[in-house]
Amino acid sequence: MSTGSCCRELRKYLRYGHHESIVTTVDSVGKPNTAPMGVELIGNTIVVKPFTTTRTYANILNLGEVMINITTDSLLYYYALFSPDRIRYGNPKTIKPPKVLGSVDLYVECVVEGIAPHGEVALASLKPVYWCRGSGSKLAFSRANSSVIEALTHYTKLPYLISRGDLEGVKHRYAAIEAARNIVMKVGNDVLKKIIDDVLDRSVRLISKAGITI
Ligand SMILES: Cc1cc2nc3c(=O)[nH]c(=O)nc-3n(C[C@H](O)[C@H](O)[C@H](O)COP(=O)(O)O)c2cc1C
Repeated sequence: MSTGSCCRELRKYLRYGHHESIVTTVDSVGKPNTAPMGVELIGNTIVVKPFTTTRTYANILNLGEVMINITTDSLLYYYALFSPDRIRYGNPKTIKPPKVLGSVDLYVECVVEGIAPHGEVALASLKPVYWCRGSGSKLAFSRANSSVIEALTHYTKLPYLISRGDLEGVKHRYAAIEAARNIVMKVGNDVLKKIIDDVLDRSVRLISKAGITI
């Protein structure tokens, strides 16, 4: 399968600029690691920007192979962050990092063409080498689902903001998590309500552990 054919398919999924995905990498002993990461298709290259503190970054440096799992299902994002034991893996075709099974639309196997530190993140250029479809997210647009992903994004920024003593930043992110919770409480089901409560609890714990009063 050519890079061109991978990119033709990918262009359909990544047509609105920056998108979210779940990326799987493996460490030096072959243990898979799965993390939500933004992806953008620029020409025939996928750009990801892992913080240099992440395991994903270390694994990319180590092996130079990445499985991109394209999904809109917030449950998978939540599991990737907080319950990695609930992630089930399936065999890849051409690289070592496995695919995440479940409600995934598209798997894209990539090799790293270049990686350069850029402040606190690294810019990794990935060449797609193989793609296949998954069983699909099969989900109508759900504000609750999107709000959970939004809240998770804000939550993951908190440690960085806390470490920099950026109080305004912390308050802004916390307010965004509360706003996301309000939406989930209005239009989400019990599963998402439980998840968003957990995200809010985790945020409160992180913030109060740092001695910050909201
Ligand atoms: C939707 C979403 C997108 C994210 N995008 C990025 C990203 O582009 N780069 C990054 O470093 N972290 C991103 N994060 C945060 C990481 O997923 C988080 O820090 C994770 O714990 C990193 O895991 P790792 O250390 O196992 O690689 C994102 C989180 C969410 C929820």
